[in-house]
Amino acid sequence: MGYEVIIPAAGQGKRMEAGKNKLLLELREVPVLIHTLKVFEQDRNCKAVHLAIHPDDEQEMKKLLRKYGIKKVASLIYGGKERQHSVYHVVKELNGEGIVLVHDAARPFVEIDAISRLVEAAEETGASILAVPMKDTVKKANEGLVSETVERASLWSVQTPQAFRLPMLLDAHERAARESYVGTDDASLVERTNGNIKIVEGSYDNIKLTTPEDLYFAEAIMNKRMQGKKK
Ligand code: CTP
Ligand code: MG
Repeated sequence: MGYEVIIPAAGQGKRMEAGKNKLLLELREVPVLIHTLKVFEQDRNCKAVHLAIHPDDEQEMKKLLRKYGIKKVASLIYGGKERQHSVYHVVKELNGEGIVLVHDAARPFVEIDAISRLVEAAEETGASILAVPMKDTVKKANEGLVSETVERASLWSVQTPQAFRLPMLLDAHERAARESYVGTDDASLVERTNGNIKIVEGSYDNIKLTTPEDLYFAEAIMNKRMQGKKK
């Protein structure tokens, strides 16, 4: 059940329009990055955290790790141009055959129960991803004209964490690098190597903070959780 986690945190948060890395923005006076790290700090199955960071954020992030007493960060590695490059820089440094998770630093609301179910599934199949059933109807279009409605029952909105046996993840990243393929998640790289990837149903709360509106949703999720604790 033990795992290590790679947390890409080396982006610039351009769509958040905050003028700095969105991971340094605070929710209830605690930076987003710390909210995310605390989940893994509290999960006793998490053996180590490997953080991909931007050189410009290095001092600030190191200071936060000290301030909030985060103990599990075993390595800080400079990220790359795209998220995939940041993950690859870290994957290359890891050893062994165990389960490795990849989780966006920008998803602070992931829950330990979901992580446990994800890891269990990856232990069976070698790879698993958290996802929720698609709520919207999705259509394909050509130049603004609808060409097709995609059957919703087969559609999932994919989240992180995603879990893999390390050799599978490493192979998939090496192949993508050789072939100059850039995907939007790690599972898409594993799909190209024909790996079986199990879908584990997660929660709609596990949002990624991407645009300014997401901060309102984040506030609402935090409110809901505070009320749950008071009961
Ligand atoms: N990330 C990374 N390295 C990059 C780009 C992104 O480690 N070169 C990380 C981000 O820090 C974030 C996660 O990958 O935790 C998901 O990416 P995204 O939500 O796109 O964040 P940003 O790239 O920072 O935002 P934007 O695309 O709006 O600039
Ligand atoms: Mg990005």
